[in-house]
Amino acid sequence: MPDFPIPVSATVADLRLRVRTWRSEGLRVGLVPTMGALHEGHISLVRIAQQTCDRIVTSIFVNPTQFAPTEDFSTYPRTFDDDVAQLAEADCHLVWAPTPSEMYPEGFATRVVPAGAAEGLETDFRPHFFGGVATVCTKLFQQVTPDIAVFGEKDFQQLAVIRQIVRDLDMPLSIVGAPTVREADGLAMSSRNRYLSADERRTAPLIHEVISGVAAHVLEGGNADSACAEAARQLTAGGFQKIDYIAVRDAATLGAYDPKKGAGRVLAAAWLGKTRLIDNIAIES
Ligand code: PAF
Repeated sequence: MPDFPIPVSATVADLRLRVRTWRSEGLRVGLVPTMGALHEGHISLVRIAQQTCDRIVTSIFVNPTQFAPTEDFSTYPRTFDDDVAQLAEADCHLVWAPTPSEMYPEGFATRVVPAGAAEGLETDFRPHFFGGVATVCTKLFQQVTPDIAVFGEKDFQQLAVIRQIVRDLDMPLSIVGAPTVREADGLAMSSRNRYLSADERRTAPLIHEVISGVAAHVLEGGNADSACAEAARQLTAGGFQKIDYIAVRDAATLGAYDPKKGAGRVLAAAWLGKTRLIDNIAIES
């Protein structure tokens, strides 16, 4: 393995040895799961883990099982050297970078299939997705055995699904949600933003603008369905080609939203050219 500024583990055995040494010293371990192509949003997760943990592991693994054959697995940005440099700069202690065959050895045949929070929204358009995420995260938690794992609210349904599998399967770690980091014009940071052309990049913040409008309307007691329909019209008029969904949901369960019962969240997914953008925002004053 080439020289990196911080240790990089590529085998479960090496990872376990390092984590076991920290544990024997009584240190708390935090995990930041990523698929690489790191940006400020990912680094903010490392910073949040550092608030309560002594040692931080960031995993970098482009997980094939969460991509459908028609999706961007082969073209997903891979910027490993730059990722490790950013993590070293952020004082991360270890990069966990398994190969596909280390993660899914010959004969691998188990899948974690979440329901509940995984139903609807993303699953209506990417039915394979949460099974792949739940399976790889379960493995990451088993491999690293962290005290906490930090996930961005940018993938709000993913965060809810992870919380659910940890709760349902009695996994001994805490899941920490981290606020979405945005560009100055409101666009949520995402590794996939680099797919956008210059024109598309100018249009992209509209998704944040329209869901903010829905949240404000619902907060004032307006009708959620008509606000979502109007937001979809605005996205289409603004240049988005296809709206997968704009929905108002209960923030904890992702079921139907009832302002008397709990907090709400507006979630959206829409296509700008060949790029699928997702975003969400809290319904709060
Ligand atoms: O959000 C991501 O980057 C991925 O879905 C995750 C959680 C690292 C699992 O592959």
